[in-house]
Amino acid sequence: MLNRIANDRLAKSFAKIKFKYQTVDWDAIPTKHIGIYIHVPFCEQLCAFCPFHKVVYKEELKRLYLKAIEKEIKERTMEGKVEWVYIGGGTPNLLTPSEIGRILEALREYVDLTNIGMEGNPLQFTPEYLHQIRELGVEKLSTGVESLKPDTLSHVNRAKADEAQITSIVELARKLGFSVNVDLMVGLPKQAPEDFLYDVDRVGDINPQQITTYPFMDIPGVQVAPEMNSKEMFHLIEQAHDTLGDHGYNRESIWVFSKTKKIYDSARDELVIDYLGFGAAAFSKVAGQQIVNPPLPLYLDMLQNGRTRAFQTTVDEKSENWRKFGHELYNLCLDPKVIQDMPRSIKFILSLLKLTGNVKGDQVTQKGRFFVHDLTKTIVESLPFPVSNPAAIINFEEYQKELQAAQELLRIREKTEQPIGEPPVKPIKH
Ligand SMILES: C[S@@+](CC[C@H](N)C(=O)[O-])C[C@H]1O[C@@H](n2cnc3c(N)ncnc32)[C@H](O)[C@@H]1O
Repeated sequence: MLNRIANDRLAKSFAKIKFKYQTVDWDAIPTKHIGIYIHVPFCEQLCAFCPFHKVVYKEELKRLYLKAIEKEIKERTMEGKVEWVYIGGGTPNLLTPSEIGRILEALREYVDLTNIGMEGNPLQFTPEYLHQIRELGVEKLSTGVESLKPDTLSHVNRAKADEAQITSIVELARKLGFSVNVDLMVGLPKQAPEDFLYDVDRVGDINPQQITTYPFMDIPGVQVAPEMNSKEMFHLIEQAHDTLGDHGYNRESIWVFSKTKKIYDSARDELVIDYLGFGAAAFSKVAGQQIVNPPLPLYLDMLQNGRTRAFQTTVDEKSENWRKFGHELYNLCLDPKVIQDMPRSIKFILSLLKLTGNVKGDQVTQKGRFFVHDLTKTIVESLPFPVSNPAAIINFEEYQKELQAAQELLRIREKTEQPIGEPPVKPIKH
């Protein structure tokens, strides 16, 4: 009941957020004391569970993209020290270390970088790759294993995992001083409960510093349906908690288990300070504005033609408070300073959580964990993301026209048959 009330309220506040596709005046936006997110939208094959903006890797497209990113970095005025950098995707390790180096160099012309993290597919990491990105200053790695079971992976169009390779990559990465996170997913189509529990136990043996167990979330852009409901996924994550406890992991948040305090969690860092996003469909949140770059064809076209078009909206205070409150709960421990600034409506929900034994003092109780799991899942599933949700764009037709023209141009340039970066046609979910 309490779950339903909270989920409804936050979903309503997110649904109200509307972006305008327009020219952004970046010069008017202060960019000091920030984090940086770089999006790499290429994958060798497109996993059916993944809602993030990506296209199938092509050498030529990557070349164009790198040029565009370097240009975008030059065009945004930044200064000072950057608190964190995440290179996410897609599959960022489809860029060579020297290409990653080019991006970091371009940034270092303007700002000092600290706390650099990078995502990647385990299949694309090699020992040389790890050595080289470590030398470039990358400290944190996150790799999506998702599942070790070939059947589960083939149902979502993901390449087979290679346990021996994952083990040696994690071992070497730790030796080189990286802090390593491994992502696992629960609730994938055709994934049996025991398959997930097997994955958890095996990855516990492989021993990365951090393991994240994501429940499968049904976000616009995802092409398959979850195998289980939220409660079933939750119970399996609770079992994973026990298994990982035996392997020496502590629960850092509702889905994160760790042996270190140096957590890889871009969502957490993005709530704390302003950040700039570079690349196609990348998010920025700066000076009370939320700005989302256009998808790949428009992004390439805009940088080639010196334009600065993006989706823009003023950060909505209500939904931002829900995200902050959600994140306090997600950490399973509430910071009184954050709670103090919450509006009365959220404090009311908190008092109900305390009355019903879901929260005690500033800690989420064992009983409260399901509430937190379900609320976090709802937050992620209802985040307004204009690139895959036309309903979140005020001037959708204007945007659509520009997108089609850019797709056509890119098609001519690429001489390909298929429009690149078009939202995928939704197959029927089972
Ligand atoms: C941006 S993805 C990048 C993964 C990277 N390309 C790879 O192949 O290893 C980061 C993580 O989000 C998680 N993820 C992606 N889609 C999801 C979904 N629909 N529900 C829950 N978690 C999801 C996966 O665990 C994935 O590893």
